[in-house]
Amino acid sequence: MKIYVSRDSAAKAVGAERVVAALRAELAAQGVEAEIIRTGSRGMVWLEPLVEVDRGLGRMAYGPVAPGDVAGVLEGSAESLGLTEEIPFFARQTRLTFARCGVTDPLCLRDYEAHGGLAGLRRALAMSGDEIVAEVTASGLRGRGGAGFPTGIKWNTVRQAEAEQKYIVCNADEGDSGTFADRMIMEGDPFTLIEGMVIAGLGVGAGRGYVYLRSEYPDAIAVMNEAVALARAAGVLGADVLGSGRSFDMEIRSGAGAYVCGEETSLLNSLEGKRGVVRAKPPLPALEGFLGRPTVVNNVISLATVPVIFEKGAAFYAAFGLGRSKGTIPVQIAGNVARGGLFETAFGMPLGALVDEVAGGTASGRPVKAVQIGGPLGAYFGRDKFETPFGYEDFDGQGGLIGHAGLVVFDESADMLKMARFAMEFCAVESCGKCTPCRIGAVRGVETIDRIAGGDAAAVTVLSDLCEVMKDGSLCALGGFTPYPVLSALRGFPEDFAGVREAAE
Ligand code: NAI
Ligand code: SF4
Repeated sequence: MKIYVSRDSAAKAVGAERVVAALRAELAAQGVEAEIIRTGSRGMVWLEPLVEVDRGLGRMAYGPVAPGDVAGVLEGSAESLGLTEEIPFFARQTRLTFARCGVTDPLCLRDYEAHGGLAGLRRALAMSGDEIVAEVTASGLRGRGGAGFPTGIKWNTVRQAEAEQKYIVCNADEGDSGTFADRMIMEGDPFTLIEGMVIAGLGVGAGRGYVYLRSEYPDAIAVMNEAVALARAAGVLGADVLGSGRSFDMEIRSGAGAYVCGEETSLLNSLEGKRGVVRAKPPLPALEGFLGRPTVVNNVISLATVPVIFEKGAAFYAAFGLGRSKGTIPVQIAGNVARGGLFETAFGMPLGALVDEVAGGTASGRPVKAVQIGGPLGAYFGRDKFETPFGYEDFDGQGGLIGHAGLVVFDESADMLKMARFAMEFCAVESCGKCTPCRIGAVRGVETIDRIAGGDAAAVTVLSDLCEVMKDGSLCALGGFTPYPVLSALRGFPEDFAGVREAAE
């Protein structure tokens, strides 16, 4: 008998370690031989701690399991959810980037290879740098951190740049509220990120990589450090990658807790040991990045998706999706939902299907009022926008952004004026202070929303104008995108803004 329990921090947070201790004790008491394998998460967070038992007929799922339930689970008398892969939330997904997450032992390279790992790297090692970049371009992969910039074009800029030293920097400063895909892949399938970084290095001619990982993720930092050491010992990293004579090595650096350090130039400053302040662009990091050298800065999911593109081919990957949004996207579902977790799907699924069918509506049972998509800088969509297909251009066309693909759902009790105020306040707190529209604008924004709350109708125009200035005049996305949640709340939910009501009367 094999028993699988997630070691992901979301599972640990709800008691996975206590369940494992109870399983060990019960197995010893019954004198039953069984192997307990710690995996990453299947992404069905509402079922954690999830226990999967394989008695030779596939993995039967039980969850959420409490320590007191383990005897029943082992005897088979506890009610099972059936085969994990057949649970509707799971069965409906297209798992490419997350194919191994929750299936394998994250720190076992043998398990990784047995499930397709390193096949992409082996193929890339037989290709020239130009061919590698062309393959990524053909796949249609776009930056999964939020901006959706074509990864192949970014890699090509770095490849074409003349320099003795180039770098691959992985942005693992996952700061958006309601997002956890980066953390899940780093804790659940770290070798796929490492493999993606090696392929990126081979493609652009970079010999060294860094993962800038937020300090709030201690489990991910520990797993990534261990995985890098294992990969180095196995020759996946180092002076002679898999006996090819080509070299690539990398290390993990811990962030310092500032949201703005997820912005790529601020991240590079922090990585260099400087204060995390945004740099003006140009020059682009692709030309003058880490220590002034050409640098690929890519999000975790972008890099972790590269191995499957090389394993299965660019055409395979590009066949999924919608329009220019090709491939799959790991949607992270959070907030007031019946079923929260990670749902990887081809681009194109309508927002309403994700919220109503996949997430099962609200946990409170009250109607959904709004969904914030793309973190604290994302717009609020009401039900009138539920037909919008999940895609970069489609969301842009509706005045929103998919960002890092986090959905936070709110029921009818949400006060949208308070949400707009929170967005401005968040910007004021997290602003790096370099440019005026953001540093001063966010503070004025909070005051202006307070005036609207007090019934000052004239303040509505001031708020709209202020948002235009922040959009056009801010140096980076923090100040430039804060107007998205503010204006979408103001325009989509005018009934929550007393001043708007007065202006209309
Ligand atoms: P951007 O549009 O300025 O740049 C996107 C990327 O393309 C950058 O890496 C840039 O250096 C690169 N690039 C642009 N032109 C290029 C060229 N010609 N050659 C090579 N590379 C080129 O967007 P930015 O400011 O990097 O990111 C904004 C996004 O970040 C927002 O959409 C937001 O959703 C997202 N975001 C994500 C967070 C997270 O936790 N993942 C947190 C906050 C924001
Ligand atoms: Fe700094 Fe805000 Fe300006 Fe970005 S927009 S550079 S965070 S002050």
